[in-house]
Amino acid sequence: MSDATLDSKGGAGPAVADDPKRRAAFDARVAAEGKVEPRDWMPEQYRKTLIRQISQHAHSEYVGMLPEGNWVTRAPTLRRKAVLLAKIQDEAGHALYLYGAAETMGVSRAEMLDALHEGKAKYSSIFNYPTLTWADVAAIGWLVDGAAIVNQVALQRCSYGPYARAMVRICKEESFHQRQGYEAMMALAQGSPDQKKMAQDSLNRWWWPSLMMFGPSDRDSPHSAQNMAWKIKRESNDDLRQRFVDMTVPQADYLGLTMPDPDLKWNEERGHYDFGEIDWDEFWRVVKGNGVCNRERLQARRDAHDKGAWVREAAVAHAEKRAARSLAQAAE
Ligand SMILES: [Fe+2]
Ligand SMILES: [Fe+2]
Repeated sequence: MSDATLDSKGGAGPAVADDPKRRAAFDARVAAEGKVEPRDWMPEQYRKTLIRQISQHAHSEYVGMLPEGNWVTRAPTLRRKAVLLAKIQDEAGHALYLYGAAETMGVSRAEMLDALHEGKAKYSSIFNYPTLTWADVAAIGWLVDGAAIVNQVALQRCSYGPYARAMVRICKEESFHQRQGYEAMMALAQGSPDQKKMAQDSLNRWWWPSLMMFGPSDRDSPHSAQNMAWKIKRESNDDLRQRFVDMTVPQADYLGLTMPDPDLKWNEERGHYDFGEIDWDEFWRVVKGNGVCNRERLQARRDAHDKGAWVREAAVAHAEKRAARSLAQAAE
């Protein structure tokens, strides 16, 4: 946006009240596909929504390392272990880009992490399900990263510049995640009868939670219309979910695995797969903190944060020492 939309402090801090003229200019700019940048004026509601969405996304990448981390020491071969380590490391990187993108909106990383650790901020519920077998690592790559890509490809066109740009890079890495998962799943599906059974069992457990990743049906999303108008969201939850189903069913067919949904059927007229009703009671139960692993995941993150306190303190002390040294050099 042009400098004319900046406030007197050269930024758009939370203290700036919404003003109808600026709001109209903002809406017009966004409607014309202009990107919003950190120093631009923006409505408070836009800022709040994006801080919530980007920080939740960052927390999801961050917590998402845990279910897979559970299998690093037990990966079946050295190659699988190396691939898994690289993937988990990518997820840490995604969290960092996203915390960085959220910080450009005036919230600090410490505040975001406090909100997570205090249980005030949400992260994707999919990570509150346990990884019981090695096949679950394969299923996560195939289905969870697969669903994430569908969501994130749409977010590359989000109106907020730093978020959209972070997504471009993240999507490239997610596509490697999805492929490694599908490849690991194929090895199991084409393996011994026990391996195939293991693959089918994990598909049975991960299919429905993957569909839930797209969030409640549009009929039940109160903020959808405004978020669509502001291009925070480019496509509806139901449309994205449908795209994921259409993309994934042929992949399961190719593996010779069966989707755990008796209502799943190609609909010639619609040109899409019809599928069964999601168990929304289960969805809300996990969102509200009562999934199998909610408590364990949060505790693991809190412990990691506490144990890392000395690293943060050392980094601050080192930065202070360097700053003092360059100050002293400048004074010489
Ligand atoms: Fe990721
Ligand atoms: Fe990923």
